[in-house]
Amino acid sequence: MSQENFKEALKQKDLPIGVFDSGVGGLTVVREIMRQIPKERIIYFGDTARVPYGGKSKEIVTRYSEQIVRFLESQQVKAIVVACNTASAYALEKIEKKSKIPVIGVVKPGAKTAAEVTVNGKIGVIATEGTIRSEIYKRYIEELKTEAEVIGKACPLFVPLVEEGLLEDPVTDEIAQRYLSVLIDSGIDTLILGCTHYPLIRRTVGRVMGEQVRLVNPAYETALELKNLLQEKELLQDEKPMLGTNQYQFFVSDGADKFRYFANTIFKYGVLAVKQINIEEY
Ligand code: DGL
Repeated sequence: MSQENFKEALKQKDLPIGVFDSGVGGLTVVREIMRQIPKERIIYFGDTARVPYGGKSKEIVTRYSEQIVRFLESQQVKAIVVACNTASAYALEKIEKKSKIPVIGVVKPGAKTAAEVTVNGKIGVIATEGTIRSEIYKRYIEELKTEAEVIGKACPLFVPLVEEGLLEDPVTDEIAQRYLSVLIDSGIDTLILGCTHYPLIRRTVGRVMGEQVRLVNPAYETALELKNLLQEKELLQDEKPMLGTNQYQFFVSDGADKFRYFANTIFKYGVLAVKQINIEEY
């Protein structure tokens, strides 16, 4: 490798990873990326002005996602993580085709884990209406395990409950019991938390489903896949960011203060600044 190329490769490694979601849910994926590849810089965008995506059409979610990708690319990211199941289900293929940098979603990694860990082959998926309607989990799981039975259940009220911070609350318990009873009756042994907001109410879901059901949080596998991908493309950062570098940056389309407050309940380190941008400009 020439000295010029070597310098260029170092510069590429230095660039941040772009992560986005419709709101705060993608922070569960960021948390996992921070754990598994702590030297990386991250730029996060939460589309808090237009959340929820779950009940919106494929066309709208794709348009929103493409705008966000343009914003992240303008920040010179080296890879993009679509930390939203609904956007992964509807827009990932299109984004992948257009993008010059590596892009990964959260659905494939979650489907892979569930197909691996199920014993009786009965897998439940809880997600937004859009993700369930797309049947994307079912498709990926059946590709890996043809005999698997996949039972999907849309849980649209979970997202506003999480966004309102009602993570441990009798209201959330009550709603969870209503949504999940059909899955308990179906005898699944594995349940995919197919919306990035849901790991935040994992305890409630686990309590209602019972110990015999294994919960799969796709965030873990997504971060692992991201690490492998960066390694393969020689983009994995092996040095800590320079002192004074803003390692993690957060952008939203509305409600920066509310987002910051929420982010600080998720991360151990303090999120000090959240910037609001006009995403419609991208
Ligand atoms: N967190 C998103 C997902 O993983 C969706 C929440 C929403 O905007 O409806 O699907």
